[in-house]
Amino acid sequence: MNAPDRYAVFGHPVGHSRSPWLHARFAELTGESLVYEARDVPPGRFETALAAFLQAGGKGLNITVPHKLAAFAAAEKLTPRARRAGAVNTLALTPDGLLGDNTDGAGLLRDLQHNLGLALAGTRILLVGAGGAARGALGPLLDAGPSELVIANRHAGKARALAADFGADGAVSGVGLDEAHGPFALVVNATSASLSGEVPGLPGDAVGPETFCYDMAYGSGPTAFMRWAQVRGAAGVADGRGMLVEQAAESFTLWRGVRPPTDEVLAAMRSAD
Ligand code: ATR
Repeated sequence: MNAPDRYAVFGHPVGHSRSPWLHARFAELTGESLVYEARDVPPGRFETALAAFLQAGGKGLNITVPHKLAAFAAAEKLTPRARRAGAVNTLALTPDGLLGDNTDGAGLLRDLQHNLGLALAGTRILLVGAGGAARGALGPLLDAGPSELVIANRHAGKARALAADFGADGAVSGVGLDEAHGPFALVVNATSASLSGEVPGLPGDAVGPETFCYDMAYGSGPTAFMRWAQVRGAAGVADGRGMLVEQAAESFTLWRGVRPPTDEVLAAMRSAD
């Protein structure tokens, strides 16, 4: 019997990554034979670690902080959505060489629209943050056809520059946090503020009873942003675990050509709290 195909996630730190567990469950549920491990790859060591992994027969990788730009540079081909995001979270060895993809935005949209049942076409959306996470979400959010998408960032110039990059893809503008006035149907927190228990300084009217609030971050229990939104009477809140599961499923589909079911995997992850 052939050895199972090998996959891994490269990141730093990577010890708390849920990706090995997720891909092991997907493999069980689809009957695919593979092994998947987490590799701690320090900054500056990405290329060496990638070369060693491919040399040893590795078939695909997930890439997380801080290597998504290095992976973008290392890919021999890019999918349109990776090119648009300017970052790569998935590498796949294909007959045409090393393909770089980005499944983060698709994972977010799948969670918002399919798992949470949100209808986004024709609505006003607020995207908070203008870093790598916001850039990855922006194209897929615009593809959902909102009437307007506002990017708000602490440094307003970064929000304006990001909006200008995507100006051809829809009605998108960039503002400072204190200028992000509602009503919005959806507010997506793509800042790293939750990681330090902080909440972006949005005006009180950014969130109302018509607003669903989504934090791309997650931890044990609701994030600071989710609690902030609940106090303001938001219509609903969610953390980024659904996005995590869906982006993983999208990577698995690229590698194996079979889409794993995600409902039960997400439910198991939520009940593990
Ligand atoms: P990532 O790849 O997670 O997007 P990043 O590129 O470093 O990380 O971007 C972090 C984002 O979180 C930025 O939009 C940052 O705002 P600035 O560009 O103004 O620095 C935002 N951010 C981080 N901490 C924040 C806080 N406490 N309040 C508001 N925004 C914050």
